[in-house]
Amino acid sequence: MMSVEWKAEYEIGNGVIDEQHQFLFQIANRIFQILGTEEQVLVLSDLFDELFKYTNRHFREEEVIWRPLGEEIFQAHRTKHLLLRAQLEAIWLSDSIFNPDKTAQSLYDWVAALLQHVLNFDRGMNRKLLDQT
Ligand SMILES: [Fe+2]
Ligand SMILES: [Fe+2]
Repeated sequence: MMSVEWKAEYEIGNGVIDEQHQFLFQIANRIFQILGTEEQVLVLSDLFDELFKYTNRHFREEEVIWRPLGEEIFQAHRTKHLLLRAQLEAIWLSDSIFNPDKTAQSLYDWVAALLQHVLNFDRGMNRKLLDQT
């Protein structure tokens, strides 16, 4: 079974954001656990819905935090969020959603892309914010 592990070194230094990132990893792990089991057909839809909603909520709340960095930086970051959101939605909408191996791999790749976003962009935004104050 695939899983993802949250590590303290992924923290960007904002407690609220770090907690939300960690929670996204936890929902992903709940999906990994269910994939390929008999319950999959019953609960996969709810779990994806939860992951999608929580991702949206996280992006929205994070964008509010980055807002003071100015319109251009804010919009560029928001565009990256929209892309990640679209990629997650594409996994759910794919014909092979009930193919456990394929869905697990797609979700794993998505979490990896999310982590790269966290380390490369969220961390940079937080640094910029701290520099400003
Ligand atoms: Fe984030
Ligand atoms: Fe972000």
